[in-house]
Amino acid sequence: MRLIRAKNYDDMSLKAANIIAAQVSLNPKSVLGLATGSTPIGTYRHLVEWYQKGELDFGKAVSINLDEYCGLSGEHPQSYRRFMRENLFDHINIPADRSFLPDGTQTDSVLECARYDRIIEEHNGIDLQLLGIGRNAHIGFNEPDSCFACGTHQVILTESTIAANTRFFEDEAQVPRKAYSMGMQAIMQAKRVLLIASGADKAEAIRNSFFGPVTPQVPASILQLHRDVIVIADEAALADC
Ligand code: GLP
Repeated sequence: MRLIRAKNYDDMSLKAANIIAAQVSLNPKSVLGLATGSTPIGTYRHLVEWYQKGELDFGKAVSINLDEYCGLSGEHPQSYRRFMRENLFDHINIPADRSFLPDGTQTDSVLECARYDRIIEEHNGIDLQLLGIGRNAHIGFNEPDSCFACGTHQVILTESTIAANTRFFEDEAQVPRKAYSMGMQAIMQAKRVLLIASGADKAEAIRNSFFGPVTPQVPASILQLHRDVIVIADEAALADC
């Protein structure tokens, strides 16, 4: 693991955006594994700015997102598709038909998970996987569990994740209880993983994930076994390390 210390959120965002920009510049056909949450917003802002200045071109890139809430259509204000459109896709030239997210309206979870895994496979996996991290060290929506889930799967969200994500909804009752999430196989098979973290509420997750035992109770700890992981964390997120 390469740990890059950032001063604060803005510094983390700039450093992460530079790595993604380098990836797309060196290989315009890159398959980007993208993430939602408040952490990557600053990173996406830089990518949009550089695209708008003509410094970046996403015209040949592919994006495959980590997860989506079950029961929300792509038009729902809190759906991850809508988040990606508002924060990135609507402002860059990544082709709409090459920006993939799970379909939260698909009620047949077996079918939807198989479809999503096929998409990942057809693109020969992910070149650069961007990850945030949950307070309980979840990545994507891979929640603490008794074993690591391999493929795309339907997840029952933990109380802590529901509580953390309530801030985006009117109240806790509105937060979907289930989600589709890419599994650990696609994440671990990504050629490079870039995990970003900011703020004191991520300090325990960062310490447990990268300085503790590898266990499915700490989902991000599996990244200790990946041979090309870059962690960019700010001082507050590294406070316990
Ligand atoms: C959500 C997402 C994760 C994200 C995490 C942290 O549950 N499924 O992909 O990394 O929350 O979010 P934030 O960056 O807002 O702290």
